[in-house]
Amino acid sequence: MKKKFASLIKEASVRKKSRIVLALDPDPNKIARDNMLEYLTSIIDAVNEDIIAVKLNMHVLLPLSNYEISKIVETAHRHDIAAIADIKLNDIPHTNQIVIYNLASMNFNAVIINPFIGFHALHETIDYANLEEMGIITLVFMSHKGAENTFGLKVGEKHLYDIFLEWSVKLDVDGIVVGATYPDIIKHCYNLANGKAIYSPGVVTQGGDPMVAIKHGVDYLIVGRSIIDANDPVRKSKELKEKTWNMLY
Ligand code: XMP
Repeated sequence: MKKKFASLIKEASVRKKSRIVLALDPDPNKIARDNMLEYLTSIIDAVNEDIIAVKLNMHVLLPLSNYEISKIVETAHRHDIAAIADIKLNDIPHTNQIVIYNLASMNFNAVIINPFIGFHALHETIDYANLEEMGIITLVFMSHKGAENTFGLKVGEKHLYDIFLEWSVKLDVDGIVVGATYPDIIKHCYNLANGKAIYSPGVVTQGGDPMVAIKHGVDYLIVGRSIIDANDPVRKSKELKEKTWNMLY
């Protein structure tokens, strides 16, 4: 049996002294579809020492072929870097199984799921993901403006994010996502997450402060444009890695 995704990431983080998950989101105005594979693999090669995982979403999963996506995942794996599919999976269990099967066939290590599908569907989907040795990260509170209007809704006495968090802990997921733009929610989730890793998008470009996020309980930062669109992505990722690791160690 492969190592559980949560342990894989934790070990990589300590080994590399990094908390950075790189969102491989190429700007379609700058990178043509046909250059995307080479562009992304060269970025992974360039910043590999400073990141613990790459996260691929629709920027890449829609335009590229199965073969090209597998090549990106393979490049990450060659550097001992995990690959996360950020598709915010949100369908009936049967469909989710097919999605996970296809992601597993491209060797992804983990997938982000939206618990909005409900406990039963989440449970069934996670059971299948376990069979495929696919890690699971659940959305608990998103990073964008207005996320409080849905994730923060009150259902009876509880907020929706508290319910998503409870389910995530109960189903022993590998991590949860809480936006860096909501530090108070990070702290709240940290106190109830029973040690589950917190992944946090929304730093720099979306306005979240990475240091504040970590002080409130974030384990890993999901970072896209501020690294990938920088004039010097290697310098930028190294700077952020060192700044956000050294603050606690
Ligand atoms: P930037 O460029 O803003 O990229 O650093 C952030 C990346 O993360 C994705 N994103 C999220 N993914 N939950 C997620 O699972 C979220 O709340 C969230 N907010 C942003 C975004 O699509 C981009 O890839």
